[in-house]
Amino acid sequence: MCGIVGYIGKNKDIRIGLEALRRLEYRGYDSAGAAWYNPEKREIFYIKKTGRIDNLEKAILESNLNLIGNPFVMHVRWATHGGVTDYNAHPHFDCQKEFFVVHNGIIENWAELKEKLVKEGHKFISECDTEVIAHLIEKYFQGNLEEAVRKTLKEIRGTYGMAIISKKDPQKLVVARLSSPLLLGIGQDETLVASDPSAVITHTRQVINLDDNEIAVITPTNFHILKEKPIITIEWTPEEAQKGGYPHFMLKEIMEEPEAIENAIRGRLMIEEGSVKLGGLDVIAEKLREINRLILIACGTASYAAKVGEYMLEEYAGIPCEVDIGSEFRYRKPIVDEKTVAIFISQSGETADTLAALREMKKKKVLTLGITNVVGSTQARETDAGVYTRSGPEIAVASTKAFLGQLATLALFTVYLGRQKEMALVMGKRIVSELAKLPELAKGVLKSASEIEKIAEKYKDFKNFWFIGRKYNLPIALEGALKLKELSYLHAEGIGGGELKHGHLALIDENFPTVAICPSDSVYEKMVSNIQEIKARNGPVIVIATEGNEEIKDLADDVIYIPKTLEMLTPILATVPLHLFAYYVAAKLGCDIDKPRNLAKSVTVE
Ligand code: G6P
Repeated sequence: MCGIVGYIGKNKDIRIGLEALRRLEYRGYDSAGAAWYNPEKREIFYIKKTGRIDNLEKAILESNLNLIGNPFVMHVRWATHGGVTDYNAHPHFDCQKEFFVVHNGIIENWAELKEKLVKEGHKFISECDTEVIAHLIEKYFQGNLEEAVRKTLKEIRGTYGMAIISKKDPQKLVVARLSSPLLLGIGQDETLVASDPSAVITHTRQVINLDDNEIAVITPTNFHILKEKPIITIEWTPEEAQKGGYPHFMLKEIMEEPEAIENAIRGRLMIEEGSVKLGGLDVIAEKLREINRLILIACGTASYAAKVGEYMLEEYAGIPCEVDIGSEFRYRKPIVDEKTVAIFISQSGETADTLAALREMKKKKVLTLGITNVVGSTQARETDAGVYTRSGPEIAVASTKAFLGQLATLALFTVYLGRQKEMALVMGKRIVSELAKLPELAKGVLKSASEIEKIAEKYKDFKNFWFIGRKYNLPIALEGALKLKELSYLHAEGIGGGELKHGHLALIDENFPTVAICPSDSVYEKMVSNIQEIKARNGPVIVIATEGNEEIKDLADDVIYIPKTLEMLTPILATVPLHLFAYYVAAKLGCDIDKPRNLAKSVTVE
């Protein structure tokens, strides 16, 4: 999604901004732009370009403009209003080119504001909703930039993270936030602003997250926010945000899946007590004892983690669960009471639909709990309590290791709640000790990477795939299909094995392979029957099976083995080969793996 970078401080070459902007590339974008106040010329220069940041940099370098910019703003845009054109790229400006705005989010009443401003004589040159902000600031400016911004914000409806500079008040960078993340990176006599911590960590780790409805006025040596805010330290190192020698962030992140599991469980397992410690839930521990229903809400891959969570929590914690996707849940009229808990699962903690559902639940006074990766994200701040997945930075657009972190965290949460309810000590101990083994077992699965690569080579030219699974691994079939779709642009669908005969079998022939997730668990026999149904119609089948299962080789065209573990934990191990399979197919097809077309890492608009 869109990304913002801004700077004010010692006079700096704007290329430091381009470097920061590149750290936001992973979010997915279609155009990029920069505007900088050059103190020598007392002018704001700007350049906006569709395509990659490289295009923008090239245009800037070829422009012969003075590259000292203080302050400056930059942006990567992912189109929502208006096509992908240079004009529609940010920064946007007013009639006189005195106020330059970069903005993430959506201005919902832009059309009516534009109509009014046009009648007042303002000239618009883009189709982008953001342009109204620049014209409103122009309209209200009377010598003080923040005052003009304040008046502008009263007129607009929607969501925003924005940063503004003006040649009429050039010693200031003004930023504002409502439902779209924005932070200040505090350096020595300089401040960077960004929509994502990755953009600032090479400069400073001292950051302040802006809250909704806050405006910050930043000068070269100081900053002022409407209320006092603590400075927090980002724990990620810049190296962690790099590719670590892998050709793609995604491969690096899949290879880090054992570590993601390890990080999620570290220090949280109490093997002797057959229980777990989740410090983030201490504040609501008493309330959790009373609950009788859980609603799990998430989007995309995280929603499949929620679905696995539903099976775990119902079977082992004995609590009725319901799973919904954020974009549906926000428009439902859910029936809730004081014993309902809503759990929100999100890697970024910034997904607009998930946050909207969260806010809806808060309005209904439902206890809210977050399972989030990004520390200090909106979801983490707005939920009543939560558990961090600690998966580390995830840069590739499609989520992989964070999903494993979510699954491991849900298993922990199951034990936490289960032990408060009816789960016996012996069962608690069993789950906890199996969880402790998972990182090593997942490392074992990664050793099959080259075999999986060969299987990917064999299947890469097929155009359609089924992914089937049952019970705990039905959501994993959905995840396997989504990952293949996202990365390779091939058609893939995930379904419950039992559903095949209700229509889907009609598509099976020798050109329609199926990936069957079929560990030796309580639904193994049922899955074998489903595989037979496919083989009877000449469909090729790749089976994910438990180590030691030799008989499956007679049925399957290809087998990928995963180690034995508890049934409820099989999704964690079964996901690893599916992620590798999707990765290798996409790599062989030459796809843009880390930034698949049309997709964004964190979808901060509805
Ligand atoms: C985007 C990403 C997905 C991710 C989803 C939810 O669509 O491309 O990989 O699963 O958002 O993101 P979240 O940050 O809420 O987990």
